Amino acid sequence: MSELPLFHAQGLTKRFGGFVALDSVDFEVGAGERVGLIGPNGSGKSTLVGCASGSLRNDGGAVWFKDRRIDRLLPHQRVRAGLVRSFQLPRPFRGLTVAENLRVPLVFAGRQGRAQDAIDDALEFVGLAARREAMPQDLTQVDLRKLDLARATVAKPQLLFVDEAMAGLSHSEVDEIIALMMRMNERGVAIVMIEHIMRAVTAFSQRLVVLVAGRKIADGDPEQVLANVEVQRAYLGE
Ligand SMILES: Nc1ncnc2c1ncn2[C@@H]1O[C@H](COP(=O)(O)OP(=O)(O)O)[C@@H](O)[C@H]1O
Ligand SMILES: [Mg+2]
Repeated sequence: MSELPLFHAQGLTKRFGGFVALDSVDFEVGAGERVGLIGPNGSGKSTLVGCASGSLRNDGGAVWFKDRRIDRLLPHQRVRAGLVRSFQLPRPFRGLTVAENLRVPLVFAGRQGRAQDAIDDALEFVGLAARREAMPQDLTQVDLRKLDLARATVAKPQLLFVDEAMAGLSHSEVDEIIALMMRMNERGVAIVMIEHIMRAVTAFSQRLVVLVAGRKIADGDPEQVLANVEVQRAYLGE
């Protein structure tokens, strides 16, 4: 690639004790791109997100965001650089209302100015404006997912990793979340979707990357990747 990618992990390696969770993985994302990151359970997808976002420290390789090496930055420094993640299990602050929940990521992202406007915009954008005074424990599953995406939105990311935001949702709720992620992408946010629901991944992704046992085994056009014999074998063996 002649142009500098937005995000670039090179030789990314992560061990837990003697176990190699990521084995020299190269992974890049272009500005505004939609990438699907797939692989069987335990293949290292969430570990990759952790190493990218800073909740985990890589043991080898390097992570770049634009022209800056970021793999020794703290999570909030990476958020301020424009790299945000959502969590596989949403963990809202249970004592705070929906609107108040968005204050925390705003502070984390260093965006305290015009906080109320930013919160209102994000709630409107994800379709939670009417639920702004609700408590998280009173939200439905799909609304919790929207709250998580609103928390990402207020940080104004250029790159967002969404780690399994659709588990347990109905068919139409999955469609809602895909549409929301598409609208985020239309605003210029590059998104890496990590998802087991294949229908969602193929509807969303311009490119697919496949991890198996900590190694990248395929990276490219979705149709070609899914036709790859090694990829099919990995899924049949699950
Ligand atoms: N904090 C941890 N300590 C020890 N092992 C871990 C830890 N986090 C993940 N692993 C292991 O690393 C592997 C990859 O996990 P993970 O990245 O969560 O997979 P995925 O998200 O693809 O399902 C799994 O075998 C998992 O058990
Ligand atoms: Mg995971």
